[in-house]
Amino acid sequence: MEIHTRELAFMLSGLFMAWVVLGTATAEDLAPNERLGQSIFFDKQLAIKRNQACAVCHGPREGWTGPEQKLNAAGAVYEGSIKGRFGNRKPPTSAYATYSPVLHYIEENGEKVFIGGNFWDGRATGHKLGSSAADQAQGPFLNPVEQALPDSACVVYRVCNSVRDERLFNDVWPGACDINWPRRNEVNRACSTEGGRVALSPEDRARSDQAYDAIALSIAAFEDSRVSNQFSSKFDAYLAGKVPLTPEEQRGLALFKGDKAKCANCHTLDRGPHGEPPLFTDFSYDNIGVPRNPDNPWYMQAAFNPDGKSWVDLGLGGFLAKTPTDWVADFSAFAEENYGKHKVPTLRNVDKRPYPSFIKAYMHNGYFKSLKGVVHFYNTRDVKPKCHDLFTTEAQALAQDCWPEPEITANVNAEELGNLRLTDKEEDAIVAFLKTLSDGFFDKRK
Ligand code: HEC
Ligand code: HEC
Repeated sequence: MEIHTRELAFMLSGLFMAWVVLGTATAEDLAPNERLGQSIFFDKQLAIKRNQACAVCHGPREGWTGPEQKLNAAGAVYEGSIKGRFGNRKPPTSAYATYSPVLHYIEENGEKVFIGGNFWDGRATGHKLGSSAADQAQGPFLNPVEQALPDSACVVYRVCNSVRDERLFNDVWPGACDINWPRRNEVNRACSTEGGRVALSPEDRARSDQAYDAIALSIAAFEDSRVSNQFSSKFDAYLAGKVPLTPEEQRGLALFKGDKAKCANCHTLDRGPHGEPPLFTDFSYDNIGVPRNPDNPWYMQAAFNPDGKSWVDLGLGGFLAKTPTDWVADFSAFAEENYGKHKVPTLRNVDKRPYPSFIKAYMHNGYFKSLKGVVHFYNTRDVKPKCHDLFTTEAQALAQDCWPEPEITANVNAEELGNLRLTDKEEDAIVAFLKTLSDGFFDKRK
């Protein structure tokens, strides 16, 4: 009961903060293009069943990631617009994703090191629209396990005919909606049927495609705005010399960048190319040996996953193997050395949650349920014995004092993690530091 009251108070103060930080930052401050993207991001009409917006899987109060703790506590994968359909990965935060460059590679010690792109596996390369976040934004609307609309023209039609967005869309993208549509009920029928397609002349199809690009660019503009990329955490206030860190947070920061924990090797503390505060990722890819999440609903999605429980997530390698057609060259020869690698996520907002006991999930498959669990894994992955069962949850592994085999054993990074020799107190200090990365600590404009 006591906890209950405390949580309620915390939630209310959180709501108040959200009002201060978001509420006042919205309408009057955002550029029209950003405002349009924001409206689309939160529009549930843009799904086959008119029941799912981007924000359903990327909630601002949860740091722009999964807002349902029941799901986070288990499979951590979200249901799509069509009931019973789940994807295979945990939603990463959509904030700060616009900083990820177009997917490219650099040569390092004779090896190709891939950098950039959006999604855990980088498949939203940015080569189509010049921005990986914009390329990304064209995916979910049409993904059968997400918003599941059968045709990009359905998204365009609904935005062009939406009470909330029509005016703004035409202001920002003049002429974008000059498309000769079939009759309303025909469009509606096509757009609520799987496999449906809006009948358009080649010219109108081309215009619709252009408008679909415009929608993606506006979403990316919103994701790039101050509402999404706030840089308003305690750590930012500390960098600006406004507040001190506690001694424990200081120790955590020192460990984070030091040689013992090595976190900053990948979760970079350097400033960005335009002097941005640190983004906590170098946008590279690594296999850190995350175990299978036994609760991943994908194992049971027979229609989409014929491999059942023997399915493994190949990450970047899986994408490269498929010879991206919208990219510069065939990189399938580099697939194998990238199996199991996932994009280094930003750590901004990793601890952002609506109230302290709210459960979040971490890693591409949401295996971990707490930051302490994550740091303990980095510290002891190669020290503890292997669990007998490949399918062992984090809670079971902690109880049995073991870690399961990595989901993919190839390419596991054993140089920078696995046996860090951190004490329990040092693990806690790193967690305390990670908690300083939640936006909403201060209002930047004051
Ligand atoms: C059903 C849940 C769901 C919906 C709806 C959804 N997403 Fe996501 N989002 C995910 C998942 C899961 C991933 C990771 C997928 C992967 O890597 O294969 C993701 C990845 C992303 C990323 C990549 C972040 C990065 O750093 O690579 C961005 C940005 C994003 N989503 C924005 C959006 C936008 C914009 C929309 C609406 C057009 C949207 N999402 C709709 C679940 C969802
Ligand atoms: C060798 C590069 C590397 C190092 C070193 C590293 N990480 Fe990571 N980190 C990653 C990658 C890659 C992922 C995503 C892996 C996946 O999902 O399979 C990740 C994921 C995470 C996540 C989950 C974030 C989310 O949104 O799900 C946290 C938290 C995290 N790292 C914290 C740390 C801390 C703390 C340290 C230091 C003790 C550290 N990392 C060291 C590469 C690294």
